[in-house]
Amino acid sequence: MSSTGNEAKVTVIGGGHVGLPTAVVLAHFGHEVVLAESDPVRLKMLLRGESPIVEAGVEELLGDALRLGTLRIAHSAAEAVRNAEFVFLCVPTPQGIDGSADLTFVEAVAEEIKTTLRPGAIIVNKSTVPVGTAALVERVTQRAGATVVSNPEFLREGSAVADSLHPERIVVGADDPADAQKVGQLFAMTGAPVIVTDTTTAEAIKYASNAYLATKLSFVNALADLCETVGANVDDLMAGLGHDKRIGFEFLHPGPGWGGSCLPKDTSALLHRAELVGHDFALLRGAIAQNEDHMERVVQKVARLSGGTLDGASIGVWGLTFKAGTDDRRASPATEITRRLVQAGARVSAYDPTVPRGTGDSDLAGITIVPTAYEACRGARVMALLTEWGEFASLDFTKVAALMATPIVVDARNVLDPTTIRSLGFIYEGIGRK
Ligand code: UDX
Repeated sequence: MSSTGNEAKVTVIGGGHVGLPTAVVLAHFGHEVVLAESDPVRLKMLLRGESPIVEAGVEELLGDALRLGTLRIAHSAAEAVRNAEFVFLCVPTPQGIDGSADLTFVEAVAEEIKTTLRPGAIIVNKSTVPVGTAALVERVTQRAGATVVSNPEFLREGSAVADSLHPERIVVGADDPADAQKVGQLFAMTGAPVIVTDTTTAEAIKYASNAYLATKLSFVNALADLCETVGANVDDLMAGLGHDKRIGFEFLHPGPGWGGSCLPKDTSALLHRAELVGHDFALLRGAIAQNEDHMERVVQKVARLSGGTLDGASIGVWGLTFKAGTDDRRASPATEITRRLVQAGARVSAYDPTVPRGTGDSDLAGITIVPTAYEACRGARVMALLTEWGEFASLDFTKVAALMATPIVVDARNVLDPTTIRSLGFIYEGIGRK
């Protein structure tokens, strides 16, 4: 990248799904970046220039930045912040048992860096945190003379690099608009509009975005369910809706339910927050409940097609991650549906391109992981396609039929062509499709 004269010293704390793309993209923009990662396994990989997460384009940018010296990897956050003008907090905020966001990691990092922060440093909160967290971090770090700015991320897993290089907007919340401008300036090369607001509103924008997206998907999936009941076709219905620019085609694809590391956690946290202040957010509660019911409908569809019972039935599963393009199974509808099949007594063979055979991960207990998509079909009464990996649509379905006990497919992602599949003798059901 050529010099713009606005290069800054930036430290990013946390090398996960948000921190790593953020760090490599800021380095790509020419900033002098230090990435602090405390997990020893991840740290080793990063030092070797390997990405610990499956994320398109990250490893290339990581390699470039390490070679050019625009990125340095560090173990200790306290050491990594010493010279930083900007410190990005990109640590996890998992869902607490009551649905609220668990701020343990955010608070621990604030404590860790408070004595080594350079005076005047700007702490940029990118972790998804409840409204009011900027003030909390500021309380911990204020003795160091640091200010806290909220800069929520909107990147999607699988396209995190592209989303960071070409964001649709940059939101920065700060008490002092001058601080917000400085943070916005770090992303000047993107040309994206910068929305400057106060920290509370910036934090609320993040939750509002994810809650809106989740609600839209619940609406879509509920319509798909209705299509099945009234005999309408969801593909045509969505085409009819999407051409209306006010609705649009984005986030209009029915599926097995929405999941991942953000939408479920953020909707629960917003609902929890609303309840705390006595606000009954019935719409959001309904969207969350619809998602739960929808996943169960997929399980029941598989049960019906497997002869009315799952007990003892051999079921094959294609896909376990929460969507294609990532190895993330956090709150994955595919994994959750598979688990429910197992709980109902099914013998499940599952294939996912990111899940190695023999993995001992606890979320996959009771599921037999096989090394190819065809292996999952062997002796299966029903195949359930749960994640939209491209390879599933281009399988040899004559071979699939020959391997299965009965040629039945539940396509919970609507990625197969019903006419072609049925012409090969399959019983095919999608989501809301005729
Ligand atoms: C989401 C937001 O999109 C992003 O802005 C925020 O920063 C983090 O949370 P991500 O978790 O990567 O990103 O997933 P996303 O691509 O939004 O998908 C969420 C879920 O909705 C997945 O389970 C996905 O399969 C599902 N989905 C998405 C659909 O079922 N249909 C669609 O049309 C789109």
